[in-house]
Amino acid sequence: MKLPFPAHLQSDGPHNPFPGLKALERRLGREIPHRLGSNEGLDMPHEVLTQHFGEAFASHIRSYGDAEAYELRQRISQQLDLAIENTLVDAGADSLLALALRGLVAIGESVVCSAGTYPTFAYFAQGQGCRLIEVPYFKNENGLAPNLTALAEVAHQQKARLVYLANPDNPSGHQHSDADVLALRQSLPEDCWLLLDEAYHDFREDPASSNPIDGVLRVRSFSKAQGLAGLRVGYAIGSVELLSQLMKVRIHYALSSVSLAAAALLLDHPQEVTAHIEAVKHRRRQLTHLLQSKGFNVLPSYTNFVAVVMPNGEAASNLQNRLLEQDILVTRPAHADMNHLLRITALEDALEALSSCKGLENRVAR
Ligand SMILES: Cc1ncc(COP(=O)(O)O)c(C=O)c1O
Repeated sequence: MKLPFPAHLQSDGPHNPFPGLKALERRLGREIPHRLGSNEGLDMPHEVLTQHFGEAFASHIRSYGDAEAYELRQRISQQLDLAIENTLVDAGADSLLALALRGLVAIGESVVCSAGTYPTFAYFAQGQGCRLIEVPYFKNENGLAPNLTALAEVAHQQKARLVYLANPDNPSGHQHSDADVLALRQSLPEDCWLLLDEAYHDFREDPASSNPIDGVLRVRSFSKAQGLAGLRVGYAIGSVELLSQLMKVRIHYALSSVSLAAAALLLDHPQEVTAHIEAVKHRRRQLTHLLQSKGFNVLPSYTNFVAVVMPNGEAASNLQNRLLEQDILVTRPAHADMNHLLRITALEDALEALSSCKGLENRVAR
């Protein structure tokens, strides 16, 4: 499959003007102790920050991180049985969505997503001057799901350059199988990329495939299962050609040295993350039962949240406000197609706060 890149990125370059010390050290095969070339504040004492955050933190923060995120990518690729060249690291899944748009779509070209899915994609697409086309979700009495057939049809009709799919999806929590995703890829136009946002893949019940798929950019996050939202770490999986294209336009030092080191350390000690994922899935089931026992219609979820379906936006807004009066914050998506949902993160706190709060018995949900 030979998908086109925007005209201004088809020739060699642009090239990162500052590949950095780490890349040079790897190339030379030795460390360079006298680092006089990067204008970093290497002699800043950092007494305050050392006192507060410790020596290890202070030792990282004076230097730029590795623009190629080599050590983190090495660990990711080993754990997922991938070639390192099939991985790219950036400052969270959000940065990767922005990067995909910047590297794959020119101003004025069309992109397609589900109406009311994770809104950051639409926000970035509009900010970049893309023509955004939204496709209604598939709805029936059992749930709500991105409509893959309709996404492909609209992509053909509109000559779209990229289709966005969150799988598992936010806010519906729905998960399409790997086979469904492959079928979607096959049904898209040959010159249309699939941006597959797998921020929640760790919470699937089946093991998610991590294979690079031709014409697909998988995007993943360390904010959910790894609990590093504040450090901004995410990675992408794709073909070597696709990722080298994206590296041309990536903000080369967006990811901090601390974030890179923390994510690598976590990958060296996977037990805590594995246990956390199991705990979240358990709580997701408990939260679903709790809400169902109070009469709510809860969508099946393969994420770290559950979505409650209310009869309409007004009922959802009323319940959201009743909860907020008791200092319980839940999310109601802003999009008109989804504002009848309330999205609740499956934290221990959700079980406690919603068990004891007043007025949660559902009067109007069905
Ligand atoms: C579908 C989806 N993609 C991406 C993100 C953002 O991930 P990150 O924190 O890695 O930017 C979220 C966060 O809620 C999400 O729900």
